[in-house]
Amino acid sequence: MDRIRIRGGEPLKGQVSIVGAKNAALPLMAAGLLTDETLSLGNLPQLIDIATMANMLNQHGAGVTLDGNGADGYAGRTMSIRTADVTNTTAPYDLVRKMRASVLVLGPLLARCGRADVSLPGGCAIGTRPVNLHIDGLRELGAEVEIEGGYIRATAPRGLKGAEIRFPVVSVGATENLLMAATLAKGETVLDNAAREPEVADLANCLIAMGADIEGVGTERLVIRGTDRLHGADYRVMPDRIETGTYAIAAAVTGGDLELVDTDISLVGAVAEPLAESGVELSETDKGFRVRRNGAGIAGVDVMTQPYPGFPTDMQAQMMALMTVASGASMITETIFENRFMHVPELSRMGANITVHGSSALVRGVPALTGAPVMATDLRASVSLVIAGLAAEGETIINRVYHLDRGYERLERKLAGCGADIERLGD
Ligand code: UD1
Repeated sequence: MDRIRIRGGEPLKGQVSIVGAKNAALPLMAAGLLTDETLSLGNLPQLIDIATMANMLNQHGAGVTLDGNGADGYAGRTMSIRTADVTNTTAPYDLVRKMRASVLVLGPLLARCGRADVSLPGGCAIGTRPVNLHIDGLRELGAEVEIEGGYIRATAPRGLKGAEIRFPVVSVGATENLLMAATLAKGETVLDNAAREPEVADLANCLIAMGADIEGVGTERLVIRGTDRLHGADYRVMPDRIETGTYAIAAAVTGGDLELVDTDISLVGAVAEPLAESGVELSETDKGFRVRRNGAGIAGVDVMTQPYPGFPTDMQAQMMALMTVASGASMITETIFENRFMHVPELSRMGANITVHGSSALVRGVPALTGAPVMATDLRASVSLVIAGLAAEGETIINRVYHLDRGYERLERKLAGCGADIERLGD
Protein backbone atom coordinates (compact mmCIF):
# COMPACT_ATOMS: atom_id res chain seq x y z
CA MET A 1 0.00 0.00 0.00
CA ASP A 2 1.24 3.52 -0.80
CA ARG A 3 2.68 5.74 1.90
CA ILE A 4 3.43 9.45 1.97
CA ARG A 5 6.74 10.83 3.23
CA ILE A 6 6.96 14.40 4.48
CA ARG A 7 10.01 16.28 5.65
CA GLY A 8 8.51 19.11 7.67
CA GLY A 9 9.38 22.74 8.11
CA GLU A 10 8.84 24.21 4.63
CA PRO A 11 6.40 27.14 4.55
CA LEU A 12 3.72 26.71 1.86
CA LYS A 13 3.83 29.48 -0.73
CA GLY A 14 2.03 30.09 -4.00
CA GLN A 15 -1.37 29.00 -5.22
CA VAL A 16 -3.57 25.96 -4.70
CA SER A 17 -6.60 25.29 -6.85
CA ILE A 18 -9.61 23.86 -5.00
CA VAL A 19 -11.73 21.18 -6.69
CA GLY A 20 -15.47 20.51 -6.59
CA ALA A 21 -16.90 19.27 -3.29
CA LYS A 22 -16.93 15.50 -2.76
CA ASN A 23 -19.85 15.79 -0.34
CA ALA A 24 -21.87 17.77 -2.89
CA ALA A 25 -20.90 15.58 -5.85
CA LEU A 26 -21.98 12.28 -4.25
CA PRO A 27 -25.66 13.21 -3.67
CA LEU A 28 -25.72 15.04 -7.03
CA MET A 29 -24.62 11.83 -8.73
CA ALA A 30 -27.36 9.89 -6.90
CA ALA A 31 -29.86 12.44 -8.25
CA GLY A 32 -28.97 11.13 -11.71
CA LEU A 33 -31.18 8.11 -10.87
CA LEU A 34 -34.28 10.34 -10.62
CA THR A 35 -34.60 11.01 -14.36
CA ASP A 36 -34.39 9.12 -17.65
CA GLU A 37 -32.65 12.13 -19.21
CA THR A 38 -28.98 13.10 -18.95
CA LEU A 39 -27.70 14.84 -15.83
CA SER A 40 -24.36 16.45 -16.58
CA LEU A 41 -22.21 17.46 -13.59
CA GLY A 42 -19.23 19.80 -14.06
CA ASN A 43 -16.31 20.57 -11.72
CA LEU A 44 -16.26 17.01 -10.42
CA PRO A 45 -13.30 16.04 -8.21
CA GLN A 46 -11.27 12.95 -9.18
CA LEU A 47 -11.48 10.76 -6.10
CA ILE A 48 -11.95 7.11 -5.15
CA ASP A 49 -15.35 7.91 -3.59
CA ILE A 50 -16.55 9.42 -6.87
CA ALA A 51 -15.47 6.27 -8.74
CA THR A 52 -17.28 4.12 -6.15
CA MET A 53 -20.50 6.08 -6.67
CA ALA A 54 -20.08 5.85 -10.47
CA ASN A 55 -19.79 2.04 -10.12
CA MET A 56 -22.91 2.03 -7.99
CA LEU A 57 -24.90 4.02 -10.59
CA ASN A 58 -23.58 1.76 -13.32
CA GLN A 59 -24.85 -1.38 -11.67
CA HIS A 60 -28.29 0.26 -11.27
CA GLY A 61 -28.33 0.63 -15.07
CA ALA A 62 -27.03 4.19 -15.51
CA GLY A 63 -24.66 5.03 -18.34
CA VAL A 64 -21.84 7.10 -16.86
CA THR A 65 -19.30 8.94 -19.02
CA LEU A 66 -16.50 11.33 -18.12
CA ASP A 67 -15.50 14.23 -20.29
CA GLY A 68 -14.34 17.83 -20.20
CA ASN A 69 -11.12 19.54 -19.23
CA GLY A 70 -10.83 21.53 -16.05
CA ALA A 71 -9.05 24.90 -16.03
CA ASP A 72 -6.14 22.95 -14.49
CA GLY A 73 -5.81 20.87 -17.66
CA TYR A 74 -7.00 17.61 -16.09
CA ALA A 75 -9.48 15.69 -18.19
CA GLY A 76 -12.62 14.09 -16.89
CA ARG A 77 -14.17 16.83 -14.78
CA THR A 78 -17.63 16.54 -16.33
CA MET A 79 -19.71 13.46 -15.69
CA SER A 80 -22.80 12.63 -17.69
CA ILE A 81 -25.24 10.25 -16.07
CA ARG A 82 -28.09 8.81 -18.08
CA THR A 83 -30.43 6.34 -16.44
CA ALA A 84 -32.86 5.53 -19.27
CA ASP A 85 -34.09 2.61 -17.16
CA VAL A 86 -33.20 1.47 -13.68
CA THR A 87 -32.32 -2.16 -14.36
CA ASN A 88 -31.44 -3.15 -10.79
CA THR A 89 -32.77 -1.66 -7.55
CA THR A 90 -30.25 -3.36 -5.24
CA ALA A 91 -27.25 -1.55 -3.76
CA PRO A 92 -25.00 -4.45 -2.76
CA TYR A 93 -22.96 -4.77 0.41
CA ASP A 94 -19.69 -4.90 -1.52
CA LEU A 95 -20.15 -1.32 -2.76
CA VAL A 96 -21.95 0.16 0.25
CA ARG A 97 -19.28 -1.06 2.69
CA LYS A 98 -16.66 0.90 0.71
CA MET A 99 -18.53 4.15 1.16
CA ARG A 100 -21.37 5.04 3.50
CA ALA A 101 -22.68 7.76 1.18
CA SER A 102 -23.90 4.92 -1.09
CA VAL A 103 -27.04 4.96 1.07
CA LEU A 104 -27.98 8.11 -0.89
CA VAL A 105 -29.31 5.92 -3.72
CA LEU A 106 -32.13 4.73 -1.40
CA GLY A 107 -34.43 7.76 -1.82
CA PRO A 108 -34.01 8.14 -5.60
CA LEU A 109 -34.47 4.40 -6.33
CA LEU A 110 -37.56 4.16 -4.17
CA ALA A 111 -39.10 7.32 -5.62
CA ARG A 112 -38.47 6.31 -9.21
CA CYS A 113 -39.04 2.53 -9.07
CA GLY A 114 -41.19 1.97 -5.98
CA ARG A 115 -38.57 -0.40 -4.60
CA ALA A 116 -35.02 -0.33 -3.25
CA ASP A 117 -32.83 -2.87 -1.48
CA VAL A 118 -29.83 -1.12 -0.01
CA SER A 119 -27.24 -2.80 2.16
CA LEU A 120 -26.96 -1.33 5.65
CA PRO A 121 -23.69 0.58 5.78
CA GLY A 122 -22.72 -0.55 9.29
CA GLY A 123 -20.48 1.38 11.64
CA CYS A 124 -17.27 3.12 10.70
CA ALA A 125 -14.14 4.42 12.34
CA ILE A 126 -15.80 7.57 13.67
CA GLY A 127 -18.87 5.99 15.25
CA THR A 128 -21.92 3.79 14.84
CA ARG A 129 -23.55 6.13 12.29
CA PRO A 130 -27.11 4.77 12.13
CA VAL A 131 -29.51 5.39 9.22
CA ASN A 132 -32.73 5.40 11.28
CA LEU A 133 -33.60 8.95 10.22
CA HIS A 134 -33.47 8.00 6.52
CA ILE A 135 -35.72 4.99 7.16
CA ASP A 136 -38.22 6.77 9.46
CA GLY A 137 -38.55 9.63 6.95
CA LEU A 138 -39.24 7.29 4.04
CA ARG A 139 -41.86 5.50 6.16
CA GLU A 140 -43.56 8.85 6.71
CA LEU A 141 -43.64 9.26 2.93
CA GLY A 142 -45.65 6.00 2.83
CA ALA A 143 -42.90 3.48 2.15
CA GLU A 144 -42.85 0.07 3.77
CA VAL A 145 -39.39 -0.58 5.08
CA GLU A 146 -37.98 -3.74 6.61
CA ILE A 147 -34.50 -4.63 7.69
CA GLU A 148 -33.67 -8.12 6.54
CA GLY A 149 -30.39 -9.95 6.02
CA GLY A 150 -28.37 -6.76 6.52
CA TYR A 151 -30.41 -4.91 3.88
CA ILE A 152 -32.88 -2.03 4.01
CA ARG A 153 -35.77 -3.40 1.95
CA ALA A 154 -38.10 -0.57 0.99
CA THR A 155 -41.19 -0.68 -1.19
CA ALA A 156 -43.79 1.88 -2.24
CA PRO A 157 -45.91 0.05 -4.80
CA ARG A 158 -48.37 2.93 -5.11
CA GLY A 159 -45.67 5.59 -5.04
CA LEU A 160 -44.58 7.95 -2.25
CA LYS A 161 -46.93 10.53 -0.69
CA GLY A 162 -45.96 13.95 0.63
CA ALA A 163 -45.80 14.36 4.43
CA GLU A 164 -44.65 16.72 7.17
CA ILE A 165 -41.40 15.38 8.56
CA ARG A 166 -39.50 16.85 11.47
CA PHE A 167 -36.00 15.46 11.95
CA PRO A 168 -35.21 14.94 15.65
CA VAL A 169 -31.49 15.41 14.88
CA VAL A 170 -29.92 17.40 12.04
CA SER A 171 -28.66 14.93 9.44
CA VAL A 172 -27.06 15.86 6.14
CA GLY A 173 -27.59 12.46 4.52
CA ALA A 174 -31.18 11.98 5.74
CA THR A 175 -32.12 15.47 4.53
CA GLU A 176 -30.60 14.70 1.10
CA ASN A 177 -32.27 11.28 0.79
CA LEU A 178 -35.69 12.65 1.77
CA LEU A 179 -35.30 15.72 -0.43
CA MET A 180 -34.60 13.57 -3.48
CA ALA A 181 -37.43 11.14 -2.67
CA ALA A 182 -39.93 13.97 -2.13
CA THR A 183 -39.33 15.47 -5.59
CA LEU A 184 -41.19 12.51 -7.14
CA ALA A 185 -43.77 11.99 -4.33
CA LYS A 186 -47.44 12.92 -4.72
CA GLY A 187 -48.27 16.24 -3.07
CA GLU A 188 -46.33 18.43 -0.68
CA THR A 189 -43.53 17.39 1.68
CA VAL A 190 -42.18 19.59 4.45
CA LEU A 191 -38.75 18.79 5.90
CA ASP A 192 -38.30 20.57 9.22
CA ASN A 193 -35.01 20.83 11.11
CA ALA A 194 -33.37 20.02 7.77
CA ALA A 195 -29.59 20.24 7.44
CA ARG A 196 -28.51 23.67 6.13
CA GLU A 197 -25.10 22.57 4.84
CA PRO A 198 -24.19 24.28 1.54
CA GLU A 199 -23.93 20.81 -0.06
CA VAL A 200 -27.66 20.25 0.71
CA ALA A 201 -28.43 23.59 -0.96
CA ASP A 202 -26.28 22.57 -3.95
CA LEU A 203 -28.37 19.40 -4.31
CA ALA A 204 -31.63 21.36 -3.99
CA ASN A 205 -30.50 23.84 -6.66
CA CYS A 206 -29.62 21.01 -9.03
CA LEU A 207 -32.99 19.34 -8.41
CA ILE A 208 -34.67 22.68 -9.20
CA ALA A 209 -32.66 22.80 -12.46
CA MET A 210 -34.08 19.31 -13.15
CA GLY A 211 -37.64 20.61 -12.74
CA ALA A 212 -38.28 20.08 -9.02
CA ASP A 213 -40.36 22.54 -7.01
CA ILE A 214 -38.45 23.31 -3.79
CA GLU A 215 -38.78 26.28 -1.44
CA GLY A 216 -36.59 27.28 1.47
CA VAL A 217 -33.23 26.27 -0.03
CA GLY A 218 -30.48 26.90 2.54
CA THR A 219 -32.94 27.06 5.46
CA GLU A 220 -34.03 24.50 8.05
CA ARG A 221 -37.48 24.18 6.48
CA LEU A 222 -37.64 22.75 2.98
CA VAL A 223 -40.99 22.58 1.18
CA ILE A 224 -41.10 20.25 -1.81
CA ARG A 225 -44.05 19.92 -4.15
CA GLY A 226 -43.76 16.59 -5.91
CA THR A 227 -43.88 16.22 -9.67
CA ASP A 228 -44.43 13.24 -12.03
CA ARG A 229 -41.04 13.40 -13.64
CA LEU A 230 -37.78 15.31 -13.59
CA HIS A 231 -35.69 16.15 -16.64
CA GLY A 232 -31.99 16.37 -17.39
CA ALA A 233 -29.78 19.35 -16.49
CA ASP A 234 -26.24 20.74 -16.68
CA TYR A 235 -25.00 21.58 -13.22
CA ARG A 236 -21.65 22.72 -11.77
CA VAL A 237 -20.60 21.22 -8.42
CA MET A 238 -19.77 23.81 -5.73
CA PRO A 239 -16.16 24.20 -4.49
CA ASP A 240 -15.04 21.91 -1.68
CA ARG A 241 -15.16 23.91 1.55
CA ILE A 242 -13.40 21.16 3.52
CA GLU A 243 -10.51 20.98 1.04
CA THR A 244 -10.40 24.79 1.18
CA GLY A 245 -10.23 24.85 4.98
CA THR A 246 -7.65 22.06 5.03
CA TYR A 247 -5.21 23.98 2.79
CA ALA A 248 -5.86 27.17 4.78
CA ILE A 249 -4.75 25.37 7.94
CA ALA A 250 -1.76 23.81 6.14
CA ALA A 251 -0.65 27.33 5.14
CA ALA A 252 -1.15 28.58 8.71
CA VAL A 253 0.70 25.73 10.43
CA THR A 254 3.78 26.17 8.22
CA GLY A 255 3.82 29.97 8.50
CA GLY A 256 3.27 30.17 4.73
CA ASP A 257 1.45 32.50 2.38
CA LEU A 258 -1.03 30.73 0.09
CA GLU A 259 -3.68 31.84 -2.34
CA LEU A 260 -6.58 29.39 -2.56
CA VAL A 261 -8.27 29.75 -5.95
CA ASP A 262 -11.51 28.50 -7.54
CA THR A 263 -13.10 28.70 -4.11
CA ASP A 264 -14.88 31.30 -2.04
CA ILE A 265 -14.07 32.79 1.35
CA SER A 266 -17.77 32.74 2.29
CA LEU A 267 -17.70 28.92 2.31
CA VAL A 268 -15.29 28.77 5.27
CA GLY A 269 -17.00 31.27 7.60
CA ALA A 270 -17.11 29.06 10.70
CA VAL A 271 -13.47 28.06 10.20
CA ALA A 272 -12.28 31.58 9.36
CA GLU A 273 -13.50 32.90 12.73
CA PRO A 274 -11.34 30.74 15.03
CA LEU A 275 -8.48 31.02 12.54
CA ALA A 276 -8.63 34.82 12.77
CA GLU A 277 -8.75 34.57 16.57
CA SER A 278 -5.66 32.38 16.53
CA GLY A 279 -3.74 34.85 14.37
CA VAL A 280 -4.38 33.72 10.78
CA GLU A 281 -5.41 36.36 8.24
CA LEU A 282 -7.76 35.48 5.40
CA SER A 283 -8.22 38.14 2.72
CA GLU A 284 -10.35 37.95 -0.40
CA THR A 285 -8.65 38.02 -3.83
CA ASP A 286 -10.06 38.04 -7.38
CA LYS A 287 -9.97 34.26 -7.68
CA GLY A 288 -10.45 33.17 -4.07
CA PHE A 289 -8.58 34.23 -0.95
CA ARG A 290 -5.14 34.52 0.60
CA VAL A 291 -4.05 32.92 3.89
CA ARG A 292 -1.08 33.89 6.07
CA ARG A 293 -0.27 34.43 9.72
CA ASN A 294 -0.51 37.93 11.16
CA GLY A 295 3.09 37.74 12.38
CA ALA A 296 2.34 36.97 16.01
CA GLY A 297 2.37 33.15 15.92
CA ILE A 298 -0.59 30.83 16.51
CA ALA A 299 -2.64 31.32 19.67
CA GLY A 300 -4.81 28.59 21.21
CA VAL A 301 -8.57 28.92 20.61
CA ASP A 302 -11.53 26.77 21.62
CA VAL A 303 -13.82 25.20 19.02
CA MET A 304 -16.93 23.06 19.17
CA THR A 305 -18.28 21.18 16.16
CA GLN A 306 -21.90 21.88 15.22
CA PRO A 307 -24.19 21.40 12.24
CA TYR A 308 -23.86 24.19 9.63
CA PRO A 309 -23.43 27.15 10.09
CA GLY A 310 -21.33 25.98 13.05
CA PHE A 311 -17.77 24.67 12.95
CA PRO A 312 -17.73 21.55 10.72
CA THR A 313 -16.84 18.18 12.22
CA ASP A 314 -14.93 17.49 9.00
CA MET A 315 -12.45 20.26 9.98
CA GLN A 316 -12.02 19.22 13.62
CA ALA A 317 -8.93 17.02 13.16
CA GLN A 318 -7.15 19.63 11.02
CA MET A 319 -7.87 22.38 13.56
CA MET A 320 -6.52 20.14 16.31
CA ALA A 321 -3.29 19.63 14.34
CA LEU A 322 -2.88 23.42 14.18
CA MET A 323 -3.59 23.80 17.90
CA THR A 324 -0.84 21.29 18.82
CA VAL A 325 1.74 23.99 18.04
CA ALA A 326 -0.21 27.00 19.33
CA SER A 327 0.90 29.05 22.29
CA GLY A 328 -1.48 28.30 25.16
CA ALA A 329 -4.25 25.74 25.35
CA SER A 330 -7.26 24.91 23.23
CA MET A 331 -10.41 22.95 24.05
CA ILE A 332 -11.81 21.06 21.07
CA THR A 333 -15.27 19.59 21.55
CA GLU A 334 -16.85 17.12 19.11
CA THR A 335 -20.66 17.05 19.24
CA ILE A 336 -21.53 15.31 15.94
CA PHE A 337 -19.75 11.95 16.07
CA GLU A 338 -19.02 9.98 19.23
CA ASN A 339 -15.64 8.58 18.27
CA ARG A 340 -13.90 11.20 16.23
CA PHE A 341 -10.60 11.55 18.11
CA MET A 342 -8.76 8.70 16.39
CA HIS A 343 -6.04 11.16 15.37
CA VAL A 344 -5.21 12.01 19.01
CA PRO A 345 -2.90 9.05 19.76
CA GLU A 346 -1.10 9.56 16.43
CA LEU A 347 -0.62 13.31 17.00
CA SER A 348 0.64 12.45 20.49
CA ARG A 349 3.27 10.15 18.95
CA MET A 350 4.52 13.23 17.12
CA GLY A 351 4.96 15.06 20.43
CA ALA A 352 1.56 16.74 20.80
CA ASN A 353 0.19 17.22 24.31
CA ILE A 354 -3.50 16.25 24.20
CA THR A 355 -5.81 14.90 26.90
CA VAL A 356 -9.26 13.62 25.98
CA HIS A 357 -12.14 13.95 28.46
CA GLY A 358 -15.28 12.45 26.93
CA SER A 359 -16.21 14.50 23.89
CA SER A 360 -13.59 17.20 24.54
CA ALA A 361 -9.87 17.26 23.89
CA LEU A 362 -7.62 19.62 25.78
CA VAL A 363 -4.68 20.51 23.56
CA ARG A 364 -1.73 22.19 25.22
CA GLY A 365 0.49 23.72 22.57
CA VAL A 366 4.10 22.54 22.31
CA PRO A 367 6.97 24.49 20.70
CA ALA A 368 7.44 21.88 17.93
CA LEU A 369 6.26 18.46 16.77
CA THR A 370 8.68 15.76 15.68
CA GLY A 371 8.19 13.51 12.64
CA ALA A 372 7.12 9.87 13.14
CA PRO A 373 5.53 6.98 11.25
CA VAL A 374 1.77 7.35 11.70
CA MET A 375 -1.50 6.06 10.32
CA ALA A 376 -5.15 6.87 10.66
CA THR A 377 -8.46 5.20 10.09
CA ASP A 378 -10.49 7.92 8.41
CA LEU A 379 -10.15 10.62 5.84
CA ARG A 380 -9.98 13.79 7.93
CA ALA A 381 -7.86 12.16 10.65
CA SER A 382 -5.34 11.19 7.95
CA VAL A 383 -5.10 14.70 6.57
CA SER A 384 -4.58 16.10 10.07
CA LEU A 385 -1.46 13.93 10.25
CA VAL A 386 -0.28 15.40 6.93
CA ILE A 387 -0.77 18.88 8.42
CA ALA A 388 1.17 17.87 11.53
CA GLY A 389 3.91 16.37 9.34
CA LEU A 390 4.26 19.60 7.36
CA ALA A 391 4.92 21.47 10.62
CA ALA A 392 7.04 18.80 12.33
CA GLU A 393 10.81 18.65 12.58
CA GLY A 394 12.15 15.66 10.65
CA GLU A 395 10.45 12.93 8.67
CA THR A 396 6.85 11.74 8.91
CA ILE A 397 5.58 8.67 7.07
CA ILE A 398 1.81 8.49 6.66
CA ASN A 399 0.53 4.95 6.17
CA ARG A 400 -2.88 3.96 4.73
CA VAL A 401 -2.85 6.72 2.11
CA TYR A 402 -6.00 5.06 0.77
CA HIS A 403 -8.07 7.24 3.12
CA LEU A 404 -6.55 10.43 1.70
CA ASP A 405 -7.26 9.37 -1.87
CA ARG A 406 -10.96 9.03 -1.00
CA GLY A 407 -11.28 12.75 -0.39
CA TYR A 408 -8.24 14.79 -1.45
CA GLU A 409 -7.39 15.01 -5.13
CA ARG A 410 -3.63 14.85 -5.85
CA LEU A 411 -2.84 15.94 -2.30
CA GLU A 412 0.92 15.43 -2.41
CA ARG A 413 1.28 17.07 -5.83
CA LYS A 414 -0.67 20.12 -4.73
CA LEU A 415 1.42 20.45 -1.56
CA ALA A 416 4.72 19.85 -3.40
CA GLY A 417 3.64 22.50 -5.91
CA CYS A 418 3.72 25.12 -3.18
CA GLY A 419 6.99 24.12 -1.59
CA ALA A 420 6.29 21.16 0.71
CA ASP A 421 8.89 18.40 0.82
CA ILE A 422 6.44 15.55 0.28
CA GLU A 423 6.38 12.43 -1.87
CA ARG A 424 4.36 9.28 -2.35
CA LEU A 425 6.24 6.05 -1.83
CA GLY A 426 5.12 2.81 -3.52
CA ASP A 427 5.31 -0.59 -1.85
C1 UD1 B 1 -22.19 13.94 6.09
C2 UD1 B 1 -20.86 14.08 5.41
C3 UD1 B 1 -19.73 13.88 6.41
C4 UD1 B 1 -19.91 14.82 7.60
C5 UD1 B 1 -21.31 14.70 8.19
C6 UD1 B 1 -21.60 15.75 9.27
C7 UD1 B 1 -21.32 13.36 3.15
C8 UD1 B 1 -21.13 12.33 2.10
N1 UD1 B 1 -20.77 13.09 4.34
O1 UD1 B 1 -22.28 12.60 6.60
O2 UD1 B 1 -18.48 14.12 5.75
O3 UD1 B 1 -18.96 14.51 8.60
O4 UD1 B 1 -22.30 14.89 7.15
O5 UD1 B 1 -21.42 17.03 8.77
O6 UD1 B 1 -21.92 14.39 2.92
N2 UD1 B 1 -27.55 10.23 12.53
C9 UD1 B 1 -28.48 9.43 13.15
N3 UD1 B 1 -29.38 8.75 12.36
C10 UD1 B 1 -29.37 8.85 11.00
C11 UD1 B 1 -28.43 9.69 10.38
C12 UD1 B 1 -27.53 10.37 11.17
O7 UD1 B 1 -28.51 9.29 14.37
O8 UD1 B 1 -30.22 8.20 10.35
C13 UD1 B 1 -26.56 10.97 13.34
C14 UD1 B 1 -25.12 10.54 13.02
O9 UD1 B 1 -24.75 9.38 13.73
C15 UD1 B 1 -24.35 11.76 13.45
C16 UD1 B 1 -25.29 12.91 13.11
O10 UD1 B 1 -26.59 12.32 12.99
O11 UD1 B 1 -24.15 11.74 14.84
C17 UD1 B 1 -24.97 13.65 11.83
O12 UD1 B 1 -24.77 12.73 10.78
P1 UD1 B 1 -25.14 13.09 9.26
O13 UD1 B 1 -25.32 14.57 9.14
O14 UD1 B 1 -26.25 12.21 8.83
O15 UD1 B 1 -23.82 12.66 8.51
P2 UD1 B 1 -23.69 12.02 7.07
O16 UD1 B 1 -24.75 12.50 6.18
O17 UD1 B 1 -23.48 10.54 7.22
